Amino acid sequence: MATRLLICPPGHYDVRYSINPWMTPHVGDSAPDAARQWDRFVELIGCVGDVELVQAEPQAQTPDIVFTANAALMVGNLAIVSSFRHAERRREQPVYRAALARAGYATTFLRQTYFEGAGDALFDRVRPILYAGYGWRTERGATMQLQEIVGCRVLPLLLADERFYHLDTALCPLSSGHVLAYMDAFSPHAQTMLRRAVEPGYLIEVSVDDALRFACNAVEIEDALVMHDCSRRLRERLNAIGYRVFCTELDEFIKAGGSAKSLTLRLDDGPAAGIAAATA
Ligand code: ARG
Repeated sequence: MATRLLICPPGHYDVRYSINPWMTPHVGDSAPDAARQWDRFVELIGCVGDVELVQAEPQAQTPDIVFTANAALMVGNLAIVSSFRHAERRREQPVYRAALARAGYATTFLRQTYFEGAGDALFDRVRPILYAGYGWRTERGATMQLQEIVGCRVLPLLLADERFYHLDTALCPLSSGHVLAYMDAFSPHAQTMLRRAVEPGYLIEVSVDDALRFACNAVEIEDALVMHDCSRRLRERLNAIGYRVFCTELDEFIKAGGSAKSLTLRLDDGPAAGIAAATA
């Protein structure tokens, strides 16, 4: 089955404000190479496996709309649309909602809380767990509401390092059952919970250097991982567990604090299959 992804071209992308530490030194910068980098990225994800792309329309007032991971959390046919913490991104919500409705999904949103979609909520691909990051963007209250909707265990993980303000910058659950993690991005308690949830042989702890290169922000398409960059050591580890690794330059988007995975939203998502069937 094709991997269905929501993307949005960088028609109006630049760094106009700062809502995370990556953006601060770049406010006012244009991103002259963004369109080329995005085209090459999209071409690459289309080449590595069977991919179906759904496109949202870029809008003049919403430069960060390219980061479609923040559109929603997808649970089967339902899109739990984001409620952005920062005013600068709130205008994206109706655009994402319309794009998802057009693509055939039912839409809802959480009440009276901030929640930033698949940027902060990642399903384990084999265990019955939704990892839910909170602290910088998503609130802990959102993780509680998710528990009532998703039909699997929600593991709330407090994010402790502002450079890793979205969960998908520090954690990447893979279909092999391995989970990439930059552990220092998490509070001590969250680290303990992660170690309890993922068996030691399956937890791949990435270095701070790899984390800062957005190695955890990878898109998985079949046996391929597409990311901005990673060390040779990490690449070899990923090869050893059966993944092909493709790196493609995305530094124009890193200026705003996002990279490969942030530029996509996996539409066919939900709790690990065995469990969905067991609880149905
Ligand atoms: N500038 C955007 C923000 O701060 C970047 C979002 C990156 N998205 C992600 N899922 N990591 O919200």
